[in-house]
Amino acid sequence: MKKILIIGANGQIGTDLLSELRQKYGQANVIASDIKEPQTFDQHFLILDATDREAVRQTLIEYKIDEVYLMAAILSANAEKIPLKAWHVNMTILLNALELAKEGYIKKLFWPSSIAVFGPHTPRINTPQITIMDPNTVYGISKLAGERWIEYYREHFDVDVRSVRYPGIISWKTLPGGGTTDYAVEIFHDALTKGHYTSFLDANTRLPMMYMPDAIKATIQIMEADEDSLQIHNSYNIAGISFTPEELAHNIQKYLPGFHIQYKPDFRQTIAESWPESIDDSQAFKDWHWQHQYNLEAMVRDMLLHLSKKYHKEANLVL
Ligand code: SER
Repeated sequence: MKKILIIGANGQIGTDLLSELRQKYGQANVIASDIKEPQTFDQHFLILDATDREAVRQTLIEYKIDEVYLMAAILSANAEKIPLKAWHVNMTILLNALELAKEGYIKKLFWPSSIAVFGPHTPRINTPQITIMDPNTVYGISKLAGERWIEYYREHFDVDVRSVRYPGIISWKTLPGGGTTDYAVEIFHDALTKGHYTSFLDANTRLPMMYMPDAIKATIQIMEADEDSLQIHNSYNIAGISFTPEELAHNIQKYLPGFHIQYKPDFRQTIAESWPESIDDSQAFKDWHWQHQYNLEAMVRDMLLHLSKKYHKEANLVL
């Protein structure tokens, strides 16, 4: 059985990815790591600072790791507050992993890119796989540079690295940490606990989003795809659901009729306006049969069912 290391296992995507990979490959075959301790004890967890290449190398050797999922990053909104640190962290952890893969310590690497690689001159509707990319956020610049680096390492050093451009990811287990699309998760928590939400994006800001089960499916599917079928060597567009804060609120109101939303856009509005509204993922469909499953209605229902249990508010839901 292969051995897997997740870097950033306590994060929003890392948490769900960890449980899915462990179900598939067994507890002890999937090592979790992060810079912070997890909330619950995990005997296969270790503290790992991915900017420290020697520490990562030691971990790979000690646990005889084959595959790495590099899920750690400083997200878009947080990165704007600490630009040089975000650039340093996001690039160093990727280049460390690529170097270690080049040296033969990693057989296969997953590294996520983002819709943040696009910018104000990118066509915003059905954004193509190959198009103008002029990101104007630190996070987006680091992801675009990362995309160039992974393709470079593949071409020059035959490193097997796979990547998708995640849209905003919605999930109930773990909160996202400092992104522009975080409103689409916060809104559910506030709807259930307070009955109202103040959105930091305007009512009509349409962004590409995806429900977590689809994001995990895409991640594992591209890692398991036949290498020869992958025509794209930077990062694949993947699409899920595109909606606005107003449309999301409207769907939540179907289950929580008393819920209301107000809008107070902040600096994240400018970031959102530089990103696509919807994504053309036909290349991913063609090469590795990617298709999302959850639409807006199914996602909202599932989120509310899970979170209402967590907050003991099941009785409030109109089902
Ligand atoms: N959800 C991410 C962010 O907002 C996009 O990759 O930063």
